[in-house]
Amino acid sequence: MMTRATVLLVAVVVVVGWMGDVVEAASQTDLAGAQGNAWTACTHLRVYGLNFDQGLARFLAYSNPQVKSVLEFGCGLGLYLDYVCRRSNATKVIGIEPEAMTFENSVFSRVNDTSLCPAQAAVNVLHASEAELAALGLMSKFDLVYSIEVLEHIPREFHDKMADFLVSRVDKLLVFSAARPNQEGWGHIAERPTEEWIEEFTSRGLVYLWRVTELVRRVCDKRNVNHKRNILVFARPGTFFADDNSSVFSRQILLSNPDDQPAVMWPELQAMSTKVCGAPA
Ligand SMILES: *[C@@H]1O[C@H](CO)[C@@H](O)[C@H](O)[C@H]1NC(C)=O
Ligand SMILES: *[C@@H]1O[C@H](CO)[C@@H](O)[C@H](O)[C@H]1NC(C)=O
Ligand SMILES: *[C@@H]1O[C@H](CO)[C@@H](O)[C@H](O)[C@H]1NC(C)=O
Repeated sequence: MMTRATVLLVAVVVVVGWMGDVVEAASQTDLAGAQGNAWTACTHLRVYGLNFDQGLARFLAYSNPQVKSVLEFGCGLGLYLDYVCRRSNATKVIGIEPEAMTFENSVFSRVNDTSLCPAQAAVNVLHASEAELAALGLMSKFDLVYSIEVLEHIPREFHDKMADFLVSRVDKLLVFSAARPNQEGWGHIAERPTEEWIEEFTSRGLVYLWRVTELVRRVCDKRNVNHKRNILVFARPGTFFADDNSSVFSRQILLSNPDDQPAVMWPELQAMSTKVCGAPA
């Protein structure tokens, strides 16, 4: 039987081996994703740590009526998806992230297996064929689609295609945020004003929910200043959500819960971010 120390050492060696060049990168400018595009797990952990907006997560998991199917574009480590799986009754919960996020203690045990909750579709939707997307369950609609601070990492010339992709998957609700001009951040290559995003989604047939947007921004955690400024909520016309009223806010969204803290939800990932990836403690 291996001792606890050996198990830990083996785990660390495996993770370090897997992360290879990223961990050895001498300066932050060598981190994957610095020039935009896909990020590795350590890029996420070093740049953001376990950045998890509990207020936003509660809105995603507890909106009323409940959502059953959920799609995240640019899910990174998959923390919001894992939260939705653990706290809600949603059954189909898929995150898109090109780089496989399978490592010791990841919320994803395998990629491309949509029977898991949460599931990671390790695919670049800009280049994938319809058959590949269909095989990953990505040609259908989802009650809730969301993408949080991702599109600014994708070249501007692809934004139209991305907006088409997102809107065509929305059955009921879209929650979206992307960096605004001069926000500045790691690998931001295409920041755009919030008004332009409203136009992108309303011109494709969604309704902008300005009241719900205000309320979601208010429940976002204080330290997530960019969520408080950038989050936008849209609905498919004719659905319950499109009435843009506060009845979508259940009591659970408004009440913070100490068990939602990242150190409680994902203690192993928290440890890994500092020990393996060198993120500030
Ligand atoms: C999940 O379903 C159960 C049984 O219907 C219900 O009691 C519970 O409130 C639901 N959970 C959420 C977060 O809506
Ligand atoms: C996941 O599916 C995508 C799309 O078919 C494919 O490109 C990728 O190689 C798959 N990844 C793994 C690890 O199976
Ligand atoms: C909010 O919208 C729902 C769905 O249409 C409706 O049943 C409810 O009466 C509305 N509530 C308020 C306060 O307008």
